[in-house]
Amino acid sequence: MPGPPTAKSCSMPIPRAYSFARYLSAKKSVDDRALNQYVWQSLVAALPCATPEQPLHILEVGAGLGTMVERLVASRILTHATYTAIDLEPTLIAEARYRLPQWAAAQGLQVQQDSQGQIRMQRPGQDIRVETEAIDLVRFVAREQGQRTWALLIAQALLDLVHVPTTLPALLSLLRPGGLLYCPITFDGGTVFQPEIDPEFDAAIEAGYHQTMDRRLIAGKPSGDSRTGRHLFPHLRAAGAEVLAAGSSDWVVFAGPHGYSADEAYFLHFIIHTMHTALAGHPGLDAERFTAWITQRHAQVEQGTLVYIAHQLDLLGRVSAPLGETRE
Ligand SMILES: C[S@@+](CC[C@H](N)C(=O)[O-])C[C@H]1O[C@@H](n2cnc3c(N)ncnc32)[C@H](O)[C@@H]1O
Repeated sequence: MPGPPTAKSCSMPIPRAYSFARYLSAKKSVDDRALNQYVWQSLVAALPCATPEQPLHILEVGAGLGTMVERLVASRILTHATYTAIDLEPTLIAEARYRLPQWAAAQGLQVQQDSQGQIRMQRPGQDIRVETEAIDLVRFVAREQGQRTWALLIAQALLDLVHVPTTLPALLSLLRPGGLLYCPITFDGGTVFQPEIDPEFDAAIEAGYHQTMDRRLIAGKPSGDSRTGRHLFPHLRAAGAEVLAAGSSDWVVFAGPHGYSADEAYFLHFIIHTMHTALAGHPGLDAERFTAWITQRHAQVEQGTLVYIAHQLDLLGRVSAPLGETRE
């Protein structure tokens, strides 16, 4: 695992516009600190051996900018691999295709990119081919079922955005027997801001925000659960997978002696903006008071006094393998 970020930024004024790509980039250092080491090491231990002739086949859904590709390549856990990274959002896939080769070159890897956007990264002991595609995971599953299988499926900060009872079995159908599912940074029902402004109003905002996740509909279908992390245990069991490892991966963001790390002040402004948008017009919240609360939270980021904690879980699961088969 990469160490903590070293670049420092002091507090920053409220952004005039918000970019989801910048938010995902800023999130990387927060995730690096949060990822559960026990689950990560369990993943490393469970990965099948890979060789140039038999590379490890990895699928990541909702891959965003490809920060998990960066993390896995940097850690040298991956030696020989094909990595299929898909995301619904074409602008994020375009950004990933731009960002990954630059990142890899800066790490000293040899990089080749073809016209289809496939990226090959090489250095002694590592040969990773990354293909990216902008596509809805449901369409992807429908296209690939019965065609290809993967040994490892990654879904980071994704499952709390979809309807897990239908999406999970569909995704698991793309795993080969004995294949692994790694789903880190899965939201699990805790949004904490310090210092308190008004404990009762703070709690009403937290509850209202979680309610917006529980009631989210996409194309008329339920798509979200503010307690996805804990609910993954029964969902995985119901989908025929066993849980190999689990642990918390809470985001904890605060300003140290030099302010917030890396671009984490932007990350905080983005989270507050997201809550503002999600709860605008919420019937249970006084509109004027809520606007003042949001303004105060942004001001706390500017002053470097805001502490933000989100409770999340990392899980590692495995679908059943024929008796005697555990490695490729
Ligand atoms: C919270 S972001 C996490 C991105 C990345 N995994 C990370 O941790 O940086 C969730 C991502 O899932 C993608 N996504 C949401 N629903 C999707 C779907 N149905 N199919 C594919 N991608 C989806 C979004 O576009 C977004 O990039």
